[in-house]
Amino acid sequence: MRSLFALLGAVLLAACDGTPKFNNVDITGANYAREFALTDHTGARRTLADYRGKVVVVFFGFAQCPDVCPTTLSDMAQVKRKLGADGERLQVLFVTVDPERDTPAVLAQYVPSFDSSFVGLYGTAEEIAKTAKEFKVFYQKAPGKTPTSYTIDHTAGSYVFDGEGRVRLFLKHGQGVDPIVADLKRLL
Ligand code: NI
Repeated sequence: MRSLFALLGAVLLAACDGTPKFNNVDITGANYAREFALTDHTGARRTLADYRGKVVVVFFGFAQCPDVCPTTLSDMAQVKRKLGADGERLQVLFVTVDPERDTPAVLAQYVPSFDSSFVGLYGTAEEIAKTAKEFKVFYQKAPGKTPTSYTIDHTAGSYVFDGEGRVRLFLKHGQGVDPIVADLKRLL
């Protein structure tokens, strides 16, 4: 019996070692971040199914964000370039958490300025709240000096979906582009 257990242990260890490891958090099978129904910056209604066959990165933020959002979007533009031809099968989606100020026109100007393929998604306050809840994304207004100069504290990570529309990874903010490039290469 003892040798059988030893053998089983060895088999289990081998299975563990053989499991591909991502640099980022593997959330395959998560019962959240499953779907959204929003409007893109051209006015078209969008769900995840529209991007089937592509690896999709979903990030929540707002156009007037001074640091985290522009850094994330420029990092993702760099990731896409580093992926070369595979980068054409990468779709970055930016969901606004500021539906008051981020009109379609604002998003149409802001999001594609990082990469022409990037898409901004907006919705009503209710649609955004529902989507953020599904994605376990936190966001909260921080009042500014005037009623329109507020900022918004928000979750800074991104979600990655594979070509079949399954959520796979949570990308932490501020890790640089190379760990993300390596992870996305494995999904593309
Ligand atoms: Ni931000």
